[in-house]
Amino acid sequence: MRDTIMVTGGAGFIGSNFILDWIRDNNSPVINLDLLTYAGNPANLSSLVNDSRYQLVVGDICNSSLVATLLETHQPKAIVHFAAESHVDRSIVSPESFIRTNVQGTQTLLEQARVYWSELDEANQRAFRFLHVSTDEVYGSLTASDPPFSEITAYAPNSPYAASKAGSDHLARAYYRTWGLPVLTTNCSNNYGPFQFPEKLIPLMVLNALEGKPLPVYGDGAYVRDWLFVEDHCTAIRTVLEKGRVGETYNIGGNSERKNLDVVHAICDLVDEMNHNTSLAPRRNLVTFVNDRPGHDRRYAIDASKIDRELGWHPKEGFESGLRKTVRWYLDHPAWVDSVRTGAYLDWIRQNYTERVAP
Ligand code: NAD
Ligand code: TYD
Repeated sequence: MRDTIMVTGGAGFIGSNFILDWIRDNNSPVINLDLLTYAGNPANLSSLVNDSRYQLVVGDICNSSLVATLLETHQPKAIVHFAAESHVDRSIVSPESFIRTNVQGTQTLLEQARVYWSELDEANQRAFRFLHVSTDEVYGSLTASDPPFSEITAYAPNSPYAASKAGSDHLARAYYRTWGLPVLTTNCSNNYGPFQFPEKLIPLMVLNALEGKPLPVYGDGAYVRDWLFVEDHCTAIRTVLEKGRVGETYNIGGNSERKNLDVVHAICDLVDEMNHNTSLAPRRNLVTFVNDRPGHDRRYAIDASKIDRELGWHPKEGFESGLRKTVRWYLDHPAWVDSVRTGAYLDWIRQNYTERVAP
């Protein structure tokens, strides 16, 4: 076994932040297996093109012979599994690819990891890790007075995305319980930060606010999410990889519950402050209430006391400072924004929003 780690989905939002942080702080090489779907952008990692520690392999996690060959060739000490279809609204329009990548793809990876791991010597078997990156959405929806999700909250996924991630979590658990594969699972709340594809709430609102476009708030805007700055998520994953107890799951959160409308207002105020086009201010006037998402989860909240107590991790970035950094990043990277807003992206925006007439 070598010092290498294999990352899946490393050209996406969280994966690319994770790889950049990993290479900055570690000497160990990274193999990034990514299919480069609409959500994968190799430009996120352009600073590593000449770095011998980094290699991108364009391929599918559902391709078992490719996964087997990569494991055989690179002999990684860990797999950090980010690759997924990740957008709830897309899972409502076309769920099939979510089942394929999130369920079948995770099973393929787990199975090939098991075969690889079973042939290692005992010391390497003990050292190997499979870290499955998952979401708090598997737990379903909370009311305003419910306690936050803990690791023992029953699964109750409500969207096809959440159901497919729940399926992948169960498979990860099964590979640990049945074969002893050293699996760890993390369930994290909503991330935000640099390189997030602008189909998700925060980057979509930043870019629309910048350009004076309507800000489409679903339903009454009182839906609550817990927000975590992506760097904190990456640090949490590294902490679990290093110190987590095999077979365990760890919830990760930002202690930052916010209503969507409050998030959108905060973005408007930051863009008003940072952008010189004052004719569009106050951008709060751009808020447009649109038809709700079917099955929309009312509230997510995370009890992240286990990872703090056992592994000493807690978030460093506050929501207001993290949001400020994020808005700054999008304003400072217009070329990146242009590069991801392709024809396919514009098709999605048309498909998702033109029929969401105001209720
Ligand atoms: P993303 O959509 O930005 O990136 C997904 C990446 O996976 C892309 O690079 C894509 O090309 C790749 N991919 C998709 N299908 C693939 C396949 N079949 N084979 C190989 N690569 C494939 O997602 P993200 O927001 O970075 O999320 C990463 C992981 O973290 C996901 O598993 C997601 O469920 C989980 N998660 C995300 C959040 C969040 O707020 N974004 C929160 C908690 C957990
Ligand atoms: P999103 O970023 O899609 O993440 P998730 O659904 O995984 O939590 O959405 C965050 C919240 O913002 C969610 O309650 C849906 C809402 N939302 C809007 O109100 N308008 C939008 O245009 C989008 C994309 C999301």
